[in-house]
Amino acid sequence: MAAIPTQSSYPILHQELLAWAQQMADLCQPDSIQWCDGSKKEYDTLCELLVSKGTFIRLDPKKRPNSFACFSDPSDVARVEDRTYICSRTKEDAGPTNNWVDPREMKPRLKKLFEGCMKGRTMYVIPFSMGPVGSALSQIGVQVTDSEYVVVNMHIMTRVGSKVMDVLGKEGEYVKCLHSVGAPLAAGQQDVKWPTNQTVKYIVHYPEDRAIVSYGSGYGGNALLGKKCFALRIASSMAQEQGWLAEHMLLMGVENPDGEKTYIAAAFPSACGKTNFAMLIPPTEFQGWKITTVGDDIAWIKPGADGKLYAINPEAGYFGVAPGTNAKTNPNAIESIRKDTIFTNVGVTDDGDVWWEGLTKEAPKNLTDWKGQRWDPSAGKPCAHPNARFTAPAHQNPCLDKDWENPNGVPIGAFIFGGRRSTTIPLIYQAHNWNSGVYLAATMGSEMTAAAFGEVGKVRRDPFAMLPFCGYHMGDYFNHWLQFGRNIPNPPRVFGVNWFRKDEDGNFQWPGFGENMRVLKWVVEKIQGKSNAVESPIGWMPHYDDIDWTGSDFTREQFEAIMAIDREAWKRELLDHAELFERMYDKLPKEFIFMRELLLSSLWRSPEKWRLETGEV
Ligand code: OXD
Ligand code: MN
Repeated sequence: MAAIPTQSSYPILHQELLAWAQQMADLCQPDSIQWCDGSKKEYDTLCELLVSKGTFIRLDPKKRPNSFACFSDPSDVARVEDRTYICSRTKEDAGPTNNWVDPREMKPRLKKLFEGCMKGRTMYVIPFSMGPVGSALSQIGVQVTDSEYVVVNMHIMTRVGSKVMDVLGKEGEYVKCLHSVGAPLAAGQQDVKWPTNQTVKYIVHYPEDRAIVSYGSGYGGNALLGKKCFALRIASSMAQEQGWLAEHMLLMGVENPDGEKTYIAAAFPSACGKTNFAMLIPPTEFQGWKITTVGDDIAWIKPGADGKLYAINPEAGYFGVAPGTNAKTNPNAIESIRKDTIFTNVGVTDDGDVWWEGLTKEAPKNLTDWKGQRWDPSAGKPCAHPNARFTAPAHQNPCLDKDWENPNGVPIGAFIFGGRRSTTIPLIYQAHNWNSGVYLAATMGSEMTAAAFGEVGKVRRDPFAMLPFCGYHMGDYFNHWLQFGRNIPNPPRVFGVNWFRKDEDGNFQWPGFGENMRVLKWVVEKIQGKSNAVESPIGWMPHYDDIDWTGSDFTREQFEAIMAIDREAWKRELLDHAELFERMYDKLPKEFIFMRELLLSSLWRSPEKWRLETGEV
């Protein structure tokens, strides 16, 4: 076979990487190979190429400078969990919550699919760092892809290029990430705007090899392999082996008027407003309080020499859900996407701007919908896909934390876990201790929305918000968390929240967004020993008077309603826990069985009684 023309603006000194890239080229048979250097020139040239292919629409340079919109193929709009596999050597290692196929079967199956899959295309080799380049907390990956869309998104979401090669040196370790849209072009064949394989998709992880292979999708977490595939699935498996944590968590700083900052790591399942929470703006009455963002989706956490936990955000940008984002729900996100942003599956106006449901009350006239058609508002179909996204660089976030790229990470003061629950789970409570915090997180659940998975409205148990992202047996993961707490002298406090409780008429009981600051303030002051709580059957809870209500008309009665622990609902909740535990009984920490029993027995304490005892009534 003739040598494939290769372009690189830097020397490639890593012989094993060079050999792997050559092997991938021999397999995929692209027309040419380009090693990515991460430069602005490379970004601009590829965006131009995407415009000329019809994939990108350049938006109005005044309204959205240097920004683009694109529409995916309707078959390629979200992560495909049922096509996602953890191919560890044994099925037991993948556990009951992951799809598994024996790697000895999967590897040849994929090899067949990849044979000649890049014909007519360029194979891009993207060296990238997850985390600040060179930090001891960071990791390196190399993604091979035939998608320009992926390259430009990786430019925003990770640190790409020659500086990463410098750190990799001649024999540094890296995670191998192979990706193809699975749409080879015959000689002279015209490309489509969004190449994808409409029938075959595979997102496969080999934890022992530290390798990822993705075929058939060009969208989000299926294709930007640094994100869910590497930073969560592969990294969680590395973390278990090496004694750290790779988590589906945002990282935020909460600064009080004295300038003291507490960092919080918070896990919420997909479609629970993580980006909004990470960029929260406190109510005007909270003079001097400030929220800063370290990350909005993923945290890598390691114990420091001082016994504290330190975390980095391995990403460099936001791949946020657009619908529902507006100047009220998230002004910092709106500011972050003002320029240099890629919009996928949003609506586009005739004058080169973007729109989605919830951006403004009234939709502008003359919109093109995410399917590229003239949008008819009366047809009852959304203009933007519910999972439409923006890809924006983190440095455009006005409330970015000054230490967001600190190579040593930021110290974690507390963990918060929360799902979308219309009943049962109160607004805020603190777990009794580390172990009950691990139990709280392991048993969390969330009601499905159109952007998430499963039957809309049904509670899906989503332990630690990691159900789709844990790269090994979930029972082992619980044990890892328990052990992790035993290894550190004073683990951070653990809290549960629920912004989504509804009243009997189906109305949300809590206003959310900036008002969540009231809860955060209690959390921060609680760990500082400055605020009070009452012990309830499920943990510690604030009294109405422990929360700062300045400027709010939220009443004591409303608070009582949103904090109420309904014994019957909790009994059902505990039955659900038992069902979850049965699924992973082989590796379930036995502590969980006893903790569940303890919870059940404390529910028999009359709620009236525990409130009377503490003077709450
Ligand atoms: C995401 C998700 O895209 O969790 O962040 O699904
Ligand atoms: Mn996420």
